[in-house]
Amino acid sequence: MKTALITGVTGQDGSFLAEFLLEKGYDVHGTIRRSSVDFRERIAHLEGHKNFHLHYADLGDSMSVIQVLNKVRPDEIYNLAAQSHVQVSFDSPEFTADVDAVGVLRILEGVRQCGLAETCRIYQASTSELYGKVEEVPQNENTPFHPYSPYAVAKQYGFWIVKEYREAYGMYCCSGILFNHESERRGETFVTRKITLAAARIAQGKQDKLYLGNLSSLRDWGYARDYVECMWLILQHETPEDFVIATGEQHSVREFATLAFRNVGIELEWTGEGLDEKGIDKATGKVLVEVSPDFYRPTDVVNLWGDPTKARAELGWNPQKTTFEQLVKIMTDADMAKVAVERASENVRTNLAEFLEKGIVK
Ligand code: NAP
Ligand code: GDD
Repeated sequence: MKTALITGVTGQDGSFLAEFLLEKGYDVHGTIRRSSVDFRERIAHLEGHKNFHLHYADLGDSMSVIQVLNKVRPDEIYNLAAQSHVQVSFDSPEFTADVDAVGVLRILEGVRQCGLAETCRIYQASTSELYGKVEEVPQNENTPFHPYSPYAVAKQYGFWIVKEYREAYGMYCCSGILFNHESERRGETFVTRKITLAAARIAQGKQDKLYLGNLSSLRDWGYARDYVECMWLILQHETPEDFVIATGEQHSVREFATLAFRNVGIELEWTGEGLDEKGIDKATGKVLVEVSPDFYRPTDVVNLWGDPTKARAELGWNPQKTTFEQLVKIMTDADMAKVAVERASENVRTNLAEFLEKGIVK
């Protein structure tokens, strides 16, 4: 039985990857952090599985990293832990650098110090944000990097230190340069999830309006569940190499919003430009989407489009397993159900309070 260590197991990708590796028969260990509220919703269903184990470790704390490496002695490490929000990285650049850049070094050096350098394979969660202010469209493994946020600059260090350890020490470590991937488990402040949740709330009368930033920004959006398979395939490849993982298709934030609202029964019509652009409900004339400068970034990456040719040819991976339309539907369906459950439990609470007040129930 192979042993895998996933840092960031509580995140979107970590939770899907844990499920995937358990199904493959791995003994799966994940790192978690202490917080005042235990937020482990994404992995709650795995806790108690005989091959699933959790350990406290923080990528900002070398001693905790070394302790977990020594205890688990993994065959494969998937380093997914990161401060992963680009806009937040402008507000917390030092924390982002510590975790997303030096954190990668802590894993690599920890592996060496624990005597695992020859046996352990390491996957680093790299990102299309490295292409940033893009120098070529679409982007492939040979496209020059031009990181355009504190997050991307930190991730660039991560990419290069992985390459350095591979070349200097002959370690099996590599980076997956993953383009945006989303799901029903996506954090609620990333643009896709923010849209699907708002569309569901608006459709069910729980929210009036959605405020967004740059509607024209272009992304290559895939389904996270499909992308974790690639992380595993990259580590099964004979030689350690870096791969672009993307769908090869590009859409704007505006297109994503149009489709998400259509899925919940609302047809949007767009009027105006820039900060004055609005998404209007064709049926009622109500303004449902507005632009707010609060969601603009000091520097924004606006043209990401990946070329997955190498992953398809060398890993046999299918970049179009889930289409863009299917992805938006998976997300809107899940959020419609979530909001419906929240409304139902609100109704139960309201009715109960009323019954108690009237003495109908005691
Ligand atoms: P996510 O949902 O934000 O999950 C991030 C994970 O990292 C969480 O488990 C989080 O723990 C953990 N973490 C944060 N800071 C940490 C620290 N100091 N020490 C230990 N753990 C820490 O991100 P994701 O979407 O799953 O992405 C996974 C990785 O892929 C990230 O490295 C991200 O930068 C990269 N990536 C993502 C995409 C994408 O489109 N999703 C694309 C390219 C690359 P808590 O739950 O305790 O906060
Ligand atoms: N978050 C957010 N909120 N983004 C918005 C909004 C909004 O209200 N309105 C427009 N956008 C635009 C952003 O300006 C950006 O151009 C695009 O939508 C996507 O933003 P996010 O969903 O926050 O994702 P990201 O592309 O910045 O970063 C994600 O993908 C990277 C891979 O390219 C994260 O998952 C990163 O961790 C990952 O590396």
